[in-house]
Amino acid sequence: LKSRGPFTDDEPAAPGVVSRRALLGGIGAAGAFGAGALLFGACSSDATPSGAPGTSSAVVADSVPFFGAHQAGIATPSQDRLLFGAFDILTTETHAVQDLLSAWTAAAADMTQGQELGNNNTLAAPADDTGEALGLPPSKLTITIGFGPTFFEQHGVDRFGVKAKRPAALAPLPAFAGDNLDPQSSDGDLGVQVCADDPQVAFHALRNLTRIGKGTVGLRWSQLGFGRTSGHQSGDAETKATPRNLLGFKDGTNNIVGTDLATMNEDVWVGAADGPAWMHGGAYVVTRRINMRIEIWDRNSLGDQEQTIGRAKASGAPLGAHGEFDLVPLTLKDKAGALVIDPLAHIRLAAPSENGGIRILRRGYSFTDGVDLTTANLEAGLFFIAYMRDPRKQFVPLQHHLAGKTHDRLNEYIQHTGSAVFAVPPGVREGHFIGEGLFR
Ligand code: HEM
Repeated sequence: LKSRGPFTDDEPAAPGVVSRRALLGGIGAAGAFGAGALLFGACSSDATPSGAPGTSSAVVADSVPFFGAHQAGIATPSQDRLLFGAFDILTTETHAVQDLLSAWTAAAADMTQGQELGNNNTLAAPADDTGEALGLPPSKLTITIGFGPTFFEQHGVDRFGVKAKRPAALAPLPAFAGDNLDPQSSDGDLGVQVCADDPQVAFHALRNLTRIGKGTVGLRWSQLGFGRTSGHQSGDAETKATPRNLLGFKDGTNNIVGTDLATMNEDVWVGAADGPAWMHGGAYVVTRRINMRIEIWDRNSLGDQEQTIGRAKASGAPLGAHGEFDLVPLTLKDKAGALVIDPLAHIRLAAPSENGGIRILRRGYSFTDGVDLTTANLEAGLFFIAYMRDPRKQFVPLQHHLAGKTHDRLNEYIQHTGSAVFAVPPGVREGHFIGEGLFR
């Protein structure tokens, strides 16, 4: 049973939302519950099939179940905010890494259900929980953990005795035309995607994971994101507006929807035959920090902007069509016989029918990071996140196609400045830790 800490009063929470403090009071009244097994009526928005092994049937209001067949934060409809952290491992001891993953799993299970961490609230020592999320609802917090290529081998060293278990699909990404990567915003032994509707809840989660890992891991880079750029909410087409990226265009119209299980199995989840066994039910995530030359973009005509993307800016409809979700008329020609959607428009080159059938689940966020001192403009762009079954067959050829000779028109306005790839293992049952199968 967790202590409620030094606080005594519950603060009012939004209707239908259970605050951390109210929750803790609930626990106190009801007795000890396992993480994620609280009783406030199901209102999960996770697309993880209910009844999946280890999934608690009763979940906390405003929360996404932590336990399940897949890690949350992939098929889950995108929350409003992102904080991504990549960590370097500082230890050479395999058991210390296992302990860390075990502690992170337990903390993630608690935090995603709105629980306060630990039980140390004596005045003589620092509290186990840093406290800034007390009183806040779970805010659909998800914490998604993955392993980078350097986890398995670094400078030829098999650091944790798992080199032979590195999935072939987890190869370091190759260089792409136009890349200008900053090593300090790239790579990492472990990657942690934290998403929540409240940025303070996301901050609290990554801060406390960092704190728990002190001495075992150190943060290598982190990225804040806002304004999700992935309209893959279930029912988006009918009910929810697709969000806009910082170029002002709707982004995520043609994306994989997490509830489309057939497509998720085909393009996102690692299958049993894909190997290795410890990745079955997981996925690979590619992150790319993509800076936008927004000043140049802003001086570009509306017509040219629309030709660059291939869609109308206001409605999001493909050029030559009427509605946002209309089929993209890639072969439609105007009276002069020219293609209505430019031959080098972004959506043409990225479309499965033109890229060899590749599909990925995009889950990116916009970012701004202060001022670009060379131009005195806002440094801003897209923190591109994409989940897939095999980056060698999906992201790598697609990005070569966009960045290479065919030359996406968008390249004039963007530059990739950070890059990482992580193997995200499947979800866990209670009592187990994320990535446990790797060490078996
Ligand atoms: C700053 C960089 C980028 C911006 C601003 C951007 C913007 C957009 C926009 C506005 C759309 C149309 C709406 C939609 O269907 O979602 C789109 C579609 C798409 N983008 Fe990007 N994108 C960027 C980078 C990338 C990258 C790096 C990739 C993959 C390597 C990618 C893959 C796709 C795909 C697959 C589609 C859907 C195409 C279709 O099937 O119609 N994008 N993007």
